[in-house]
Amino acid sequence: MAVHINAKEEIRKAAQEIKEEIISWRRHIHMHPELSGEEKNTSRFVASKLKEFGVDEVIENFGGTTAVVGIIKGKHDVTAALRADMDALPMQEKTGKPYASRIPNVMHSCGHDAHTAILLGAAKILTGLKEHLQGNVKLIFQPCEERHDCGGAKKLVEEGVLQNPDVSAIFGLHVFPELPAGKVGTRIGHFMASSDVFTIKIKGKGAHASRPHQGVDSVLVAAQVINTLHHIVSRKVDPLHPAVLTIGRIQGGYADNIIPDEVEMGGTVRTLSLELRDQIPKWMEHAIWGVTLSYGAAYEFDYRQGTPPVINDEKTTRFALGMMRDLLGKENVVELPEPTMGGEDFAEYLMKVPGTFIRLGIRNEEKGIKAPLHSPLFDIDEDALPVGASVMAYLAYKWVEEHS
Ligand code: NI
Repeated sequence: MAVHINAKEEIRKAAQEIKEEIISWRRHIHMHPELSGEEKNTSRFVASKLKEFGVDEVIENFGGTTAVVGIIKGKHDVTAALRADMDALPMQEKTGKPYASRIPNVMHSCGHDAHTAILLGAAKILTGLKEHLQGNVKLIFQPCEERHDCGGAKKLVEEGVLQNPDVSAIFGLHVFPELPAGKVGTRIGHFMASSDVFTIKIKGKGAHASRPHQGVDSVLVAAQVINTLHHIVSRKVDPLHPAVLTIGRIQGGYADNIIPDEVEMGGTVRTLSLELRDQIPKWMEHAIWGVTLSYGAAYEFDYRQGTPPVINDEKTTRFALGMMRDLLGKENVVELPEPTMGGEDFAEYLMKVPGTFIRLGIRNEEKGIKAPLHSPLFDIDEDALPVGASVMAYLAYKWVEEHS
């Protein structure tokens, strides 16, 4: 029997009621962080909570990973997905907080502890409203967001996480130290950059430093290659289309008086569009080929695609902006003017289904909470946790209601 309820009020109230619980989950996960691909205890913790809430289906070790997928079944055959990531970073926490990491050199400095606790909160709120839920909600607790090689979003997508039941929209959020706690932000379209990496080996011919004519100087060729590569963004890319090409590593040589036979370098490429992302490595290879040829050197070029750009779907993002204004008040919802060049593997889901990635404000200067992501001093204003949980719950609730 369906009684009409005011979902907005119910969800707001429920989020405040479970605030202390969400905080305790966040602190538990924060104290026991696990690296990418090793989220075993976190995933066990998540699964036990979902079962405790009465989530209809709880799939552990989804696709042979540490992912947990929960399904709350609603009346109709329409499904919204909510995603959280669970992994921590290899660094030593220095906040000195009572709930600081108990594990040396592992820390939740990207807020994935908060994302996991928030999605648990949303799961608890939605199971409490289950009899009113017009469609299914799929809860995706994803491992390995921080690394591209241990089965994060891409692996889950390949393993069919967006099917069975088929997901028609996906929402995810990330804590954001530049926004005050209580506020959220997003934007339509380009939101975050693709993140690819490359390695280049320049193969010359070793020689005595005093007899350069007998060798092919891989150091000089590498220098010319670097120069030429840095002209790609300034001369080949449309200035209205953001792109970054950084060479962050270079190695070569043995001694001051030896011309080395080989130099290796590596770097990253960031773009906001799929077209540029495909084009840049072609320009790079052209440049490397041309320069090495002109010096009689050889090369190896290994370009590895990481995550695609995060591009927020127009329809789901208009929906999310409207719903968040409704839930939190217009003054607390920011339509972000610009994308960032950071990367996020939520993009993998957005390549398959429409969805929206949201930034959750966690800054609080009065409480001294302002450290950037990936800092050893990173922390969040925990007042943001029920805000995040209510947003996630409300978006899923309303999406399936409007699309059933
Ligand atoms: Ni992150």
